[in-house]
Amino acid sequence: MNKVKTSLWKLDPAPESTDHVSLQSSYGLFIDGEFVESEGGGMFDTINPATEETIAQITEATDADVDKAVKAARTAYQKVWSKTSPADRGKYIYRIARLIQEKARELAVIETLDGGKPIRESRDIDIPLAAAHFFYYAGWADKLAYAFPNRTPKPLGVAGQIIPWNFPLLMAAWKIAPALACGNTVVLKPAETTSLTALKLCEIIQQAGLPAGVVNIVTGHGPVGAAIVNHPDVDKVAFTGSTAVGKGIQTAIASTEKSCTLELGGKAANIVFDDAPIDQAVEGIINGIYFNQGHVCCAGSRLFVQESVFEEVMRKLKHRINTLNVGDPMDKNTDVGAINSHKQLQRINEYIEIGKDEGADFYQLESDLPEKGFWCPPCLFTGVAQSNRIAQEEIFGPVLAVQTFRTVAEVIKKANNTPYGLSAGVWTDKGSKLFNMTAQMRAGVIWANTYNKFDPTSPFGGYKESGFGREGGMHGLAAYVKI
Ligand code: NAI
Ligand code: MG
Repeated sequence: MNKVKTSLWKLDPAPESTDHVSLQSSYGLFIDGEFVESEGGGMFDTINPATEETIAQITEATDADVDKAVKAARTAYQKVWSKTSPADRGKYIYRIARLIQEKARELAVIETLDGGKPIRESRDIDIPLAAAHFFYYAGWADKLAYAFPNRTPKPLGVAGQIIPWNFPLLMAAWKIAPALACGNTVVLKPAETTSLTALKLCEIIQQAGLPAGVVNIVTGHGPVGAAIVNHPDVDKVAFTGSTAVGKGIQTAIASTEKSCTLELGGKAANIVFDDAPIDQAVEGIINGIYFNQGHVCCAGSRLFVQESVFEEVMRKLKHRINTLNVGDPMDKNTDVGAINSHKQLQRINEYIEIGKDEGADFYQLESDLPEKGFWCPPCLFTGVAQSNRIAQEEIFGPVLAVQTFRTVAEVIKKANNTPYGLSAGVWTDKGSKLFNMTAQMRAGVIWANTYNKFDPTSPFGGYKESGFGREGGMHGLAAYVKI
């Protein structure tokens, strides 16, 4: 199946099986505890981006459906959830976490089929972290008084949540778990290309016995998200996605009382000093940008290498790129899977052309690609100028822009010179250098001698155009309470 040769080594196929997966051919909307048909909306296909085959039909919600979902959430908030004891809220969230764990294999396979990410990642990262988020926030439900000492945290009411396609179930967990722990009810919209794990989560929510209406999931494209944002009875909007849509949401709710958290794009600097453990740093660079096909808002998409180790880092990096397996995401040996959609592939290819036109040098893994599906082998640009669009704009694909630097002051200036400020990585042997860097860099998350590490106890969020508010950790509770 779709196994692809890479230039350095070729492995026998090791496909994950799909026989433990149960999927329906079509899905309704999850409103008031049940799957229901839309009031007048159509259906659309969700496809497997590695094969372009249709997996299932998804409902396009209408404004009337969104209204129904918000009403269900409001009723559940007033009649049930705000009267449920904090300890009981915790028990429900804990049950959801346990059920995600029990169904981890099935969820991982569905995530990979629907979104194109390697099964190794959905199995080892997305699904375990999604469960971990529910476990973590289950623990906070009856301890909010300790999170906000001498204050009285109160829920906000109905939270409208809109999530992207890069970590579908994980983003749903990031949004739903803290909202429920703090006593809110939810209307969530998954991304149109990756709705299936959110719909499986609805089945889990039913099995967990969560009271009807506490979580409602409506599917569809951008206008469904906009209908949630603009609904007058939504008290809070939480959005993860593009900066353009994020800005539109802020404008849309500017004259309302709605509270809002936005987690938007990024253009993270991954900085390698000459005293860094170079082999480890190379692994970190690979993980930083090629992980999940670069569909990561905190991807280390700008690499800064200190001039004295530039040759060595580039030699080792290209060598390592040549060992990556691109192809069938369901194969357990695959490192780089399919690009999530045709639209995203076009966008990435446009940026690759822009980089070439800007005069940067292009290097890409040579790889036989499957005939069907959306693919972009890992690639990088050297000779990149600070003003180049490939160094300034979020590409959201496996495209690395490499630059060099000489001094600490220079690299801090270059790293901060973007409209974004979500994350960064620093590779050095010196603790003092790390602390100096982290104090001066405008990034919400800075990894030291590692990259793309996530934990539910750790807050995540950005500066500048990367958004505001924090998700995860104790800080993530603040986004769902009024004090
Ligand atoms: P998008 O921002 O359009 O999609 C994210 C979510 O917002 C989806 O659920 C979508 O249906 C919804 N949405 C779209 N228009 C909306 C509106 N007007 N009101 C409310 N919700 C709306 O992102 P898209 O088009 O999928 O990707 C474009 C670029 O955005 C990517 O190339 C990448 O650079 C960036 N992006 C960043 C993400 C992040 O995690 N920071 C995630 C996804 C995309
Ligand atoms: Mg899909």
